Formats: sequence, structure tokens, C-alpha cells
Amino acid sequence: MASLLTKYDKRTKYCGQFSASDIGAEVCVMGWCQRQRDLGGLIFIDLRDRTGIVQLAFDNTDYKEAYDTAFTVRSEFVLCAKGTVRSRGEGAINKNIPTGEIEIYVRELKILSEALTPPFAIVEKSDVKPELRLKYRYLDLRRPDLQNNIIARSKVVKITRDFFAENGFIDIETPNLIKPTPEGARDYLVPSRVHPGKFYALPQSPQLYKQMLMLSGFDRYIQIARCYRDEDLRADRQPEFTQIDEEMSFATQEDVIETNERFLQRVFKEFLNIDLPLPLPRMSYAEAMERYGSDKPDLRFGFELKNISDIVANCEFKVFSGAVEMGGSVRAINITGGAGFSRKEIDSLVEYVKTYKAKGLAWYKHAIDGTVSSSYAKFLSDEENAAILERTEVKAGDLLLIVADKNSVVFDSLGALRREVASRMGLLDPHDYKLLWVTEFPLLEYDEEDGRFYAKHHPFTMPMEEDMPYLDTDPGRVRAIAYDIVINGTEAGGGSVRLHIPEIQQKMFSVLGMSKEEYELKFGFMLEAYRYGAPPHAGLAFGLDRLVALLLGIEDIRDVIAFPKVQNASELMSGCPAFADGKALDELGIKVTEEE
Ligand code: AMO
Ligand code: AMP
Repeated sequence: MASLLTKYDKRTKYCGQFSASDIGAEVCVMGWCQRQRDLGGLIFIDLRDRTGIVQLAFDNTDYKEAYDTAFTVRSEFVLCAKGTVRSRGEGAINKNIPTGEIEIYVRELKILSEALTPPFAIVEKSDVKPELRLKYRYLDLRRPDLQNNIIARSKVVKITRDFFAENGFIDIETPNLIKPTPEGARDYLVPSRVHPGKFYALPQSPQLYKQMLMLSGFDRYIQIARCYRDEDLRADRQPEFTQIDEEMSFATQEDVIETNERFLQRVFKEFLNIDLPLPLPRMSYAEAMERYGSDKPDLRFGFELKNISDIVANCEFKVFSGAVEMGGSVRAINITGGAGFSRKEIDSLVEYVKTYKAKGLAWYKHAIDGTVSSSYAKFLSDEENAAILERTEVKAGDLLLIVADKNSVVFDSLGALRREVASRMGLLDPHDYKLLWVTEFPLLEYDEEDGRFYAKHHPFTMPMEEDMPYLDTDPGRVRAIAYDIVINGTEAGGGSVRLHIPEIQQKMFSVLGMSKEEYELKFGFMLEAYRYGAPPHAGLAFGLDRLVALLLGIEDIRDVIAFPKVQNASELMSGCPAFADGKALDELGIKVTEEE
């Protein structure tokens, strides 16, 4: 039978906090049984809480009752133990744990709660299937590594709140039930009972509200905001996630960047004891694409893209010349030191780029011993081959990889391939931090399927002044005053200067294909608001989950979220989403026409 706590059961310290300096002290500890060892006449229990483990010792001489209770204890039983801290004695010291020099010789033991045998062991670095871990997330969260991640996240939040408060930012909550916004990702909708047929949306971000707060004069806003997006999940994407959301009035891109560089410097110092040299490097979107094939380049390694279109434009090999002819390009990355890749491994790289819609991958391998092999060299002239090798600086030991296609495919596939190859070569040290601002993003992105432009960042982003004239003539070439902070190839945050001039905002809506009627209906309140005196303003939002994962060197953001969702957006512990009660649906005036 489990016992209750009484007012005399007061915890002295957490398990992990004991050391040799406590020897002789009378203490009371509480926690979970990590394991019980019965040596016959002598029982040891490792007692665990979120700070670590302390050893409890029992013998059947002085304190027989405690010993008898300890005899019945199994893994994950919850215990309260009172006794004296003593040295373990020479041979028994465990140097692997901080409390390894001592143990608590227990006089009195209470079982506060019994436990079933857990479906997996509560140990660091579990190799149990993720689905099982997530179903029993409360047990999974007992594991020290996961517990440390969640505690680390809390530290980052504390540093964030401190920094922004010290810098004059005001913490303001914005609503979670808002008007559905048609732009961006798909909304999560919440039906209204009071207004049958109408819906709220959960916010994809607090964007509109933080802009309104600037109009109200709050000047500097910060919120640790929960955001919801119904989009396909990946390792760095969850349907609900958290942003460090900021906005500043009378501010330019430089002000936002400067403030956030100091914020990052503070986080890296306080959290990792790393001195981040400022200012951080910057690169335009155009340069990032040209050199890395990506708007979030990973700068921990080289393998830059080289355009060889001019060299092969008129060559006999139709794969290359054809791509140039149809307006695409031929680009190469030199995998320096990559000649060790076998034919089989290269074949798997060919398959890899095909997932990015590339039709193939041409390669040239110059082995250390001088042997050369290639999938394309025989189709080119000696001059063409020599020119390619010169431009890409291929030496003995290198592997050249080439994609010929329309530009978007070339960039996508080579951009992803550089990182894939670097990963296979073991070049991605998660604790080698390379930060970069990417600036001058395109304002718009053309969707060929829909035959229209979409906002690349969001529809409230200011175009660069010198590109403003192209809004009417050539919207695709307009650059935005928008910026992303990239850490080791991940977009950790992004923001922009906002459209505080309603005339330009209206033009933006038009370019996005909205009629005046349509944008008045959707954003009329906003256009009106901007006519009552709007300060210029700009902001940014970090993905908190991503930032914490990057700081910890973790790839999957699920490991820094207490109760994450899986790939198909369900949460396995509680089992959501779930069917709604028929009566609740009736009240909402909702009839379900299709069920899972
Ligand atoms: P954006 O859409 O770029 O900008 O989002 C900002 C940051 O949020 C993180 N993020 C995500 N993290 C986890 N799961 C997701 N599904 C997810 N989606 C985004 C990324 C991203 O950089 N309102 C603007 C910000 C602004 O302009 O101020 C916005 O939401 O790290
Ligand atoms: P093939 O003549 O089809 O055997 O192609 C010769 C080489 O060119 C092979 O290594 C193919 O993988 C490669 N290849 C085919 N299409 C492309 C492409 N679009 N870009 C780069 N290489 C390609």
C-alpha cells in the first residue's frame, strides 16, 4: 500500500545535490527508484529525480523495517527516505556520478506510489521506437537527456525575457482565436457556436496584432507566442510551435538586426559560454542561391556551386547543352576529398538528387592515385573537360557532381546535395556554430501551378525602395526589406520591415491577385488602421523550438518539446485529434461528411 506524505516529510535536497560535504547530515530525499539491488542482508536503491541519482543503503540489522520495505521496491516506485549521509568507503566510490562518494544509510522508508513495469527502461540515450516513447511521453520525459532539453528550453526562455525586458520591450499577449487568414500555410479552424457557420482561426503568427500594437504606440513588443500551421511536418516543423515574436517602431532593418545580434550574443554566452563575434556575416539572397543553392546555406563546410553553363552551352552532350538552351543552367559542386565515394555510394547520390526533381547527376572522380572516372567526360571535348576542372578547381582526391536542369531544380538539388554529402562525410559538427543573415529576399514568389504571385515572407513586407517601380512592370524582380537569421543551414528566424504606407499595401494586395473588394473584406480593418497615423516599424520572429534545438545540437525539434506531435499531426499520448461528440457538433451546426 502506498503511503501519504505527512508534514514531517520535508525534502532536504534534490538527489543530485549531495556530495562528500554532506557526510554526517540527517536528510530526507524523495524520488523514483532507478534500480534496486538485493545483495542479501544489504539492499541498494538508486533514487532518481530531475537533478540526478543518489544511492540509498539498507541493512537488516539496525533498521529492519526500512530494509523489509526496500525489499519490495521495484523500478519506478516513488519513495521517501530518511537517514544519514555516509561515505561509501574506498572500493565502493562511483566516479561516474556526482554523488558517487556518498550514500544515504536509510532509517525510514515510505513507498509513496507503486509502479507497473514500464514499457521501456528509463535511461539516457534510449533506442526505443519513437512511437512507443511518445505514447508514454510522461515516462519518456523521465529520461535525463530529454529532461535536460526541456529544462534547457526554460533557460533560453528566461534569457530571452530578461534580454528583451532590459532593452525596453513590452510583453503583450495577442489572441489565439482570430480571423482566418487566407495567405501562407493552411489555418487550423475553430467553429463558432454563437455564430453558426463562422470560424475562428488559430494564429499562424501574431503578425497582424503586433503591427496593430505598433500603431497603438507600444513601440517595442515581445511575446513568446504559440503559433499553429496546418502544414506537412518535418524534423524542424511542428503544427504548433513557439515563436520569440518581436516588433519595433521607428526602426529599420539595421535596428532589428543589431538588437537581435546582441540577443544571440547573450544567449550564446549565457547558455553555451560561447563568445559570438559581432557583427554577424550577411549575404544577399541572390548570392546565397548562386553560391550555395539555398536561402539558408550551411557555412560549416565549402562545396560551393560553380556555374559551368557557359563552358558547356554548345557541347555535344545534350543533357548539358539542352539545359542551357531551354534557359536553365549547368552547375557543379566540387566535393573536395570526396574521391573516396564508391560507385555504389555515388549511385545513391544520383537517387538522392532525383528526390529533388533532378533528372540525373553527372560526376567526375579524380582518385588520390590519379585514376579518373566519369559519367560524362567522354561526351565532352578535351577543352571543355579541362575548362570545367579548372573552374571547379578539381584536384586528385576530389569528386565533382553536376546537375543540368532549370535553375530552380539545379539550386534545390545541389543545395540539398551539398549538405547530404557533408553529412555523409561527417562534416556537420552540431557544436560548430555558423550564423548568417540572409537579406534582400524576393518580395514575391511565382507559383506556376496557380499562375499567380505569393508573398515570399508575408503580404505586409516593404519592398526595397529602389525596386518599388518594378511592382507594376516586373513584380518578380522586386526585392523585399526582409531578412532571415540562418544557423548551420536552418532558418532560425525571419522578419521584415512592414508596409506602414496604406497605398503601397493596397498595391501589394493587387499584385497578389486580390480585387479591391476582396482585400477590403479581408484586410479592410488593417488598411483603415494605417490611416490613423502609423509609425514605420519592423520586426522578426525566431522559432524558439528550432533555436533551442540548434543550441543543444539536436536535429529533431520534437526532442525540445514536452508533448510534440508526430508526422501525421496526431499526439499519441492522449490520442488527438479525436472525433467530436455528436451533441457538440449539433450545437456548432456542423455535419461531418467524411470520417477517417
Ligand atoms: P516565419 O513564418 O518565417 O515568420 O516564422 C518565423 C520562424 O518560426 C519558425 N517556424 C517554425 N518552427 C517550427 N515549426 C513550424 N511549423 C514553423 N514555422 C516557422 C522558423 C521561422 O524562422 N510573422 C513572421 C515573422 C515576422 O515577420 O516578424 C513569421 O511568422 O524558425
Ligand atoms: P546518360 O547519357 O543518360 O547515361 O547520362 C549520362 C550521365 O549524365 C549520367 O551520369 C546521368 O546521371 C547524368 N545525367 C542525366 N541527366 C542529367 C541532368 N539533368 N543533370 C546532370 N546529369 C545528368
